[in-house]
Amino acid sequence: SAAKPLSTKKVVITAGGTLEPLDPVRYLGNRSSGKQGIALANSARDAGAEVVLIAAHLEVQLPEGVEIIRVETALELQAATEHAIESADVLIMAAAVADFRPDHTEQSKIKKRDDTADPVITLVRNPDILAGVVNHRNAVGGSQLIVGFAAETGDEHGDVLDYAKAKLERKGCDLLVVNQVGQGPQGGERTFGQDSNQVLILDRDGSEPLKAEGSKQAVADAVIERIVNKIAAR
Ligand code: PMT
Repeated sequence: SAAKPLSTKKVVITAGGTLEPLDPVRYLGNRSSGKQGIALANSARDAGAEVVLIAAHLEVQLPEGVEIIRVETALELQAATEHAIESADVLIMAAAVADFRPDHTEQSKIKKRDDTADPVITLVRNPDILAGVVNHRNAVGGSQLIVGFAAETGDEHGDVLDYAKAKLERKGCDLLVVNQVGQGPQGGERTFGQDSNQVLILDRDGSEPLKAEGSKQAVADAVIERIVNKIAAR
């Protein structure tokens, strides 16, 4: 129906920031609060979808009426995502996934001692989950609609749109929602953790980028509407 355009669809959404443990009490993390991902889950649920929310570290309450899978690390998020997408119609990767993790996790708390050298953290690359699920879908001829997110700033080499188009090509997803992160030392704080957002929705079919701004719920509604229209046009 018009009111519940996703009523026969399963939508998987990742949200929040992954935590990469150093020892039993410390981790490397990022500024994602999960607000944008949770707003997407609310919007997809209200559009009638069966929603699976894969939630990394969040600073806000979990939504009602959706299935929740808690994860901590990028590797856990990868396993949960690869499993959930098998039976899904749509995947939205709103999570901020750590690109790197410590090469090992100490089994006991790293001690501060005056007689030893200061510890050095060695990082190893995490898998690119989004690129991986796109490649797998293409290899097996799957029909899932896959939506990526990106936080970009412009610089002297190009503007936000240039970088976003290059990322859309690289990742191969169907839609890329680009947060226009403010520049300067506090730039990320204008997007991460905030209640409002300003995005461009880029489509791999080359159609004109769509602008959406306002509350993260308003941005989520615009993204879900775009997904509904894309599914309808198939
Ligand atoms: O949670 P909030 O405080 O509300 O903030 C929302 C947000 C800014 C975190 C969110 O809207 C957002 O933009 N998330 C993605 C930010 C990001 O980390 O972008 P990226 O350029 O690192 O990654 C691009 C895409 O690849 C994303 O869909 C990401 O989920 C995915 N990715 C990234 C790294 C990786 N190893 N695997 C991935 O799948």
